Amino acid sequence: MRKLLLLICLAAFGSVHAAPDGLKLYTKHCSVCHNENGIGGIGLPLNSYKVESFPRDYLLKTIRLGREGRVMPAFKKLSDAQVNAIVDYLLSWKKTTIEVVFSDTPVDGNPVSGKLLFEHHCAECHGMDGKSEGIGTGVSLSREREFQVIPPALNNPGFLGAANDQWIRHTVVNGRAGTIMPSQKKLKLSNTEVDNIVSYLRSFEAQSAPLEKHQDEKPTLIFDSPYDFTTTIGNIKRSLQGLNFRYFPDRYMEMGLIDDKEVNKKQLSLRFCNFNLLYEMINIEPRLGVVLPCSVTVVEGDDGQVKLYVMNMKVVSRVFNNAQLTEAAEKMHLKLMELIDEATL
Ligand code: HEC
Ligand code: HEC
Repeated sequence: MRKLLLLICLAAFGSVHAAPDGLKLYTKHCSVCHNENGIGGIGLPLNSYKVESFPRDYLLKTIRLGREGRVMPAFKKLSDAQVNAIVDYLLSWKKTTIEVVFSDTPVDGNPVSGKLLFEHHCAECHGMDGKSEGIGTGVSLSREREFQVIPPALNNPGFLGAANDQWIRHTVVNGRAGTIMPSQKKLKLSNTEVDNIVSYLRSFEAQSAPLEKHQDEKPTLIFDSPYDFTTTIGNIKRSLQGLNFRYFPDRYMEMGLIDDKEVNKKQLSLRFCNFNLLYEMINIEPRLGVVLPCSVTVVEGDDGQVKLYVMNMKVVSRVFNNAQLTEAAEKMHLKLMELIDEATL
């Protein structure tokens, strides 16, 4: 009993002075991609070997800036105290207490030679221009793929904004143990060559933000229909046939979730599939099965306006970071847009 009281007191006391809880924040915001213990998944591993050499500043900036156009989000709404707490938590995985800092001194290399070296030694994983669209998806959830860990994009404003030259240099010199990212020694690069490569990576920053075009791409696309609810649905069904989509039984949005009588009859999901395209995509990425088949959800608002909601295939496929898949998703996307156009014309 006394123990219990003590615990309650501690809890109450704790909450008055509570600093944000790094573990909780990490679990909530990061673990879905980086895994609870940092072994990685869709996100890169953040294990103890790595955090050992990660400057605090790089972690803070990475969380704030994210990796625009890639999967890693920018956490802009978290308070400074919350971001600090997450970083403290990550750094608690270190085995030493040595603080790692890299000076802001720029690396003085030749980016033109760096480009050639990059294309020779790095492009097979990080892509010709550092945008990292390799084959295979990198995440081995369902099966082994060529890349166990997705090589990150290096021409990314988030990466270049978070990492200073000396830190990038450190990464190129040491590689990343436990991953396929090779060290300077393995690649037999001279110090000058490493400098040249770093200068080349930094030169990406001068190019107008290469991934900016993705900024407006939302995971769900919303379109207004000029027709009423029933007519819109009829239009979509007609277009589906024309576009060679196979069509599944209608489903009200809330079906199975609440009592059948209460279901909102003004929210209907039309589910359909183009098997050729679907098989093509699933062959490239089996995990895609989770998010398909395609659907258009038709919703009539209180004001009578009918809207169509469609999953943005381009955004969905980008999660898998696979150029081949992106291409197939692009085809699917065009078909969907054709469908919407026809149905709302
Ligand atoms: C939706 C998935 C996702 C979430 C959520 C996410 N990340 Fe990431 N993170 C990634 C991916 C993917 C990369 C690699 C970027 C690339 O592919 O270009 C990455 C990269 C990083 C890096 C750089 C690692 C390195 O080796 O330099 C750090 C650090 C990081 N994330 C920390 C975090 C933290 C901390 C959180 C939570 C506040 C978080 N991430 C949330 C997916 C995610
Ligand atoms: C065989 C594939 C492969 C090659 C070749 C390769 N890398 Fe990497 N690189 C990776 C992987 C995978 C990662 C992520 C590793 C991790 O989990 O930290 C990475 C990470 C990096 C990072 C850290 C980026 C970040 O977001 O933290 C930099 C910088 C980098 N590589 C630069 C280079 C350069 C420069 C070269 C050529 C000299 C090169 N890499 C060659 C696979 C490769």
